[in-house]
Amino acid sequence: PGAPYLRVTPSMLKRQTGRKGKDAWTALGGRVYNITPYLPFHPGGEPELLRAAGRDGSKLFGEIHPWVNYENMLASSMIGLLVDEHEAKS
Ligand code: HEM
Repeated sequence: PGAPYLRVTPSMLKRQTGRKGKDAWTALGGRVYNITPYLPFHPGGEPELLRAAGRDGSKLFGEIHPWVNYENMLASSMIGLLVDEHEAKS
């Protein structure tokens, strides 16, 4: 019984930088999260977290704090799944 997750392509993700009135999204481990609500709470600060906005943040995240359980922390902010560019939205 899976939720009908939004399929997010890299170009869709790229628009979600947190600027121009848009929410900030990042991809972690193949999942896409809206990190906007978490920005003020990030212990490493907003600018650090925003480095991952609009792109796949998995590498940055893993370099800094691989022990942090983002899946639990951001569960309610999950947007969908990161898919290849050519995969159609459904
Ligand atoms: C610290 C969460 C992304 C940079 C932390 C801590 C948490 C956290 C819980 C405290 C960790 C600890 O003390 O053991 C998250 C979550 C993220 C995220 C849920 C999901 C997107 C990032 C990204 C970066 C980053 C993408 C960098 C580009 C940092 C830094 C600290 C930190 C530098 C250390 C702050 C300090 O100890 O002074 N983050 N983080 N984080 N985070 Fe993140």
